[in-house]
Amino acid sequence: MFRNNINLIKQYEGPPVIEKLFSLEETERIKDLYNKLPLRVFNQKQNVKKKAWIQSYDKELDKLYIKKLKEVLGDYKMDNLKNDDGTDLFGLYHESFHPLGLHVDSGFIPEDVIYKQVLVPLTYGETIFFKNKWYGRSTTFTVDPEELNFKPNPDQNDRSKDHLGNKNFDTKLHQKYMKHIDIKNLQGLEIELVYKWKVGEVLITDRTHIHCSSSNLDKMKLALTTFTKK
Ligand SMILES: [Fe+2]
Repeated sequence: MFRNNINLIKQYEGPPVIEKLFSLEETERIKDLYNKLPLRVFNQKQNVKKKAWIQSYDKELDKLYIKKLKEVLGDYKMDNLKNDDGTDLFGLYHESFHPLGLHVDSGFIPEDVIYKQVLVPLTYGETIFFKNKWYGRSTTFTVDPEELNFKPNPDQNDRSKDHLGNKNFDTKLHQKYMKHIDIKNLQGLEIELVYKWKVGEVLITDRTHIHCSSSNLDKMKLALTTFTKK
């Protein structure tokens, strides 16, 4: 078993929470910071850009973000990798045109008490969260036999089909939200929440929720995600 602290992790779990946390001005500042930060990943084929929130570009905003998160999360620690200088990154910005597949961001360190992930929408977008949870390493779920052979590095997602259950997934919901995912890969999953992004809000969910993007929007989407642990 990857973790032996699952009971502790479960103690901190709860339903998804949506909070109006930022003013329009504050959201603009979070976007401005995105524009100033260096590019970390650019996948031309998938048209994905990623940047990490490095501290000290906007020190006032650093402080504000920590404080606002504390209001909704209570005590927490950042869990977004570290910058080269050893300081905590405050989150990962993700800009993309294409929907993400089925995955979970449950972390890579067995001793960590993973806590909440915070989604800060900066444009419109949609994310589907399932009731189904995963307590192993961060994983990409797939039914493709070739993909399942992938051997990850310590910082890369596992591949698995162990999320699958018996109940066929509803074909209408599949057509409505998840055309980019093989319906066989959704077997046994049950939707908890279709979150329609709203700028100014944050969505707070347990790190263990399996989730994916909706296939609806073929427009640029930009959001910041912050991962936390206890
Ligand atoms: Fe995710």
